[in-house]
Amino acid sequence: MADTERTSPEALLSSSAGLILRQEVPCNLETPVAELRSFVTPNDRFYVRNHFAAPRLDIGGFRLTIDGAVRNPLALGYDAVRAMPCTTRLATIECAGNSRSFLDRRAAGVQWSLGAVGTAEWTGVSLAHLLAEAGLMDEACDIVVEGADRGLVGGEPAPRQPIAYARSLPRGKALAPEVLVAYQMNGRDLPLDHGYPLRLVVPGHYGMASVKWLTRIHAVNQPFQGYWQTTDYAYWDLQAGHPVRRPLGTMKPKSIIIEPALHEAVVAGRICRITGSAWTGESSVVQVLVSTDGGRTWREASFIDPAQPYVWRRWALDWQVPEAPGPAILMSRAVDDRGETQPDEHDGARFGSYVINHCLKHEVVIATPQNSGDQ
Ligand code: MTE
Repeated sequence: MADTERTSPEALLSSSAGLILRQEVPCNLETPVAELRSFVTPNDRFYVRNHFAAPRLDIGGFRLTIDGAVRNPLALGYDAVRAMPCTTRLATIECAGNSRSFLDRRAAGVQWSLGAVGTAEWTGVSLAHLLAEAGLMDEACDIVVEGADRGLVGGEPAPRQPIAYARSLPRGKALAPEVLVAYQMNGRDLPLDHGYPLRLVVPGHYGMASVKWLTRIHAVNQPFQGYWQTTDYAYWDLQAGHPVRRPLGTMKPKSIIIEPALHEAVVAGRICRITGSAWTGESSVVQVLVSTDGGRTWREASFIDPAQPYVWRRWALDWQVPEAPGPAILMSRAVDDRGETQPDEHDGARFGSYVINHCLKHEVVIATPQNSGDQ
C-alpha cells in the first residue's frame, strides 16, 4: 500500500489558476505550452478533459465492481484496492483532440492548442491483477470500464437519455502490465478532476481510454459498441474494402516545439536553442528532425531524455539564426522505432477532429538586436 496522507475531495479539486480555461461547464483546462518544459507535469498544471461535471464520490460507500464474464464478481472498497500490491510508472497522456485549433477548418469540440498532453507518475494496482482476482473467463474479449460521471451528450445522432462515460479495452491490452487502476498522481491522491478516487491509466493510448472516477469493470464476450467507442473517439478504417468504424486507441508519433514560443522574436545572427517534446504510443521515438526553413531542409535534434516506454522525450537543437530579419517557419517531425513518422497533413476524412499529429508550422520572427530589445 502506498504511504500517503488521505486528503479530502474538496482539497483535491483542480484550480484553474495557471491553466488555460477552454470550457467552463464542463470544466476543460489546458496546460500552457511553456509548462510542458517540465519532464513531469505537476498535478495543478496537468490538462483536464471532462465530458460531464466531475462526480464527488463518498469514499465510505465507494465500491469498484468487477463483473460480467468473470467467475468471481467483486465489489471492492477503496481501502481494499489500496491494500493490493501496487506499481508506480510514468506515462504520457495526450487527448485525442489535442491541437484541434490548428486544423484548417474549425472543427467542433474543445479548441485545444498544444497543451492537452502531460506526463505524470501514476501509482495503482494493475488491471491484470484485478481481473485475475475476479477470475476473468477465457471468452471475455473486451473489458468495459465505466466512470461515475454521466449526462446527456450533445450533437446528433446521440442517445436520448443520460449516459455514463464508458470505454472498452481489448483483452490483450487490458491484461498488459502497464495498465493501472490508479489512485495516485505524482505521489498524491488523485485530484478530483483527474478521477478521484480511482481512474484507469492506459499508457500508449490516447487519453479517452484512461477512464476517470472508475466504478465498474465489466468483462464482455462481444466487442463493446458504446457511444464513446463507436460514435465519438472512433475513426473510419477499411475492412475487406468496406468502411468500418473503429475505436481510437494507440497514440501516433508527435512532436511539439516549446521554445522559442510561437511568434517569439529571436535575435538575428545569434544561436537560438530550439526545444520541444516528442512522444508516441506503443513504440519509442528514436529521432526528431527540425526544420528552420518551413520544411525545405531538416536537421536532427539531440534528446535530453532517454527513451522509456510510454513516456515523452524532450529534445533540443541549436539554431544559428540568419542575419536577415523577418519571419521564419520552424517545424519538427518525430520518427519512431518502427519508422512511422508524422504526416504533412491531417487525415480529416479518416480521423475527423482527432489524431492531429501532422507537422505544424511554428512561426517566429527574426529581429535585429535593436528590435528584439537584446542589445
Ligand atoms: N473519464 C471519465 N469518466 N469522463 C471523462 O470525461 N475524459 C477522457 C479521459 N477519461 C473522461 C474520462 C478524456 S477524453 C481524456 S483526454 C482524459 O480522461 C483526460 O484526463 P485528465 O483530465 O486527467 O487529463
